[in-house]
Amino acid sequence: VRIEARPTDYEIMIGKGLIRDLGQIARKSLPATASRIALISNKRVFELFGGPARQSLESAGFDVHPWLMGEGERYKSDRTLNKALEFLSESRFARSDAVFALGGGVVGDLAGFAAAVYMRGLPLVQIPTTLLSQIDSSVGGKTAINTSRGKNLIGAFHQPHAVVIDTDTLVSLPRRELTAGYCEAIKQGAAGDRALFDRTLEFLSSTNGTDSFEELGHIIALQCEFKAAIVAGDELEDVGREDSRSRKILNFGHTTAHALEAVTAYKRFRHGEAVGYGMVVAGLISKGLGLLDHSELELLTDAVRACGRLPPCDDLDVEQIVETLAHDKKTVLGKLKWVLLNRVGHAVIVDGDSISPKLLRDSLHTAFRPNN
Ligand code: GLY
Repeated sequence: VRIEARPTDYEIMIGKGLIRDLGQIARKSLPATASRIALISNKRVFELFGGPARQSLESAGFDVHPWLMGEGERYKSDRTLNKALEFLSESRFARSDAVFALGGGVVGDLAGFAAAVYMRGLPLVQIPTTLLSQIDSSVGGKTAINTSRGKNLIGAFHQPHAVVIDTDTLVSLPRRELTAGYCEAIKQGAAGDRALFDRTLEFLSSTNGTDSFEELGHIIALQCEFKAAIVAGDELEDVGREDSRSRKILNFGHTTAHALEAVTAYKRFRHGEAVGYGMVVAGLISKGLGLLDHSELELLTDAVRACGRLPPCDDLDVEQIVETLAHDKKTVLGKLKWVLLNRVGHAVIVDGDSISPKLLRDSLHTAFRPNN
């Protein structure tokens, strides 16, 4: 990722078994002064990959201090953040040390935010272990915690020193984690790159998404390339930008997704699953506004279906979702901005005011219908 006008670039490394090389990678990526590493993870992920990660780092001469947090979106909280900061401070971490995030998006966001604010910033290395975090959340420096009012409402941009993607971590991923990742992969293609969308959908259709981890490695590389290009052009998600290469387009499907997650107390959906519904809602609104053709909407809906089964949401109260949408942080001058499509692979940013309450409600009802 090369961000213009910034002194540092960082590499996203993708490969089989890379966790075993973590020590060497850390030596190359971190400042020469780094000697102590806070290895933040959760119990399940640490049991799977913590041993080799630690061994590799220790062989390269680092002093490793693991710290484990709870698993699940609800642990991306101020409470967990305070505990992480207490751990860093009780263990006397200093600015010459580093934080490593070993896990999915929840670990990456929380550890990343702790690294961003502790002593005004420690070097960070992301080692994402879910598909979703490998193609999206570990790349680009967004870190955050949730509050009772919504998702990711407190956070910071804090670019990592490196992103290390070990594709062996995919083999043990539960099916739902893959589905969630596929939804984000479809999102990236749909929002900004038709060739990426087609390649991802072709992969999902040909392998049913379960048995070709080698091809999935290629898809991850293409996804990261796309994400890196968007981030490099608009690192801080400039509030004034509304063009089709602005970082805002990566929020395609996220307005509804964040509301779905909030009304179900972050317990029902994996983030990517909620994005699956959110994309269909945004597609229906796009069609309702005359932006998107019927055949393109069908293509998008088929692609979401190809990602896998999503948890049901026909029991949810649409009025509560509409109310929660209003609190989304994607507002500019008090107006909610929707990321919509005028074709698959090309996003447009539209003022919430131009979407009638009826179109919004109809789109939510239609998207939430079973077997949509
Ligand atoms: N996940 C959206 C972004 O990084 O901007």
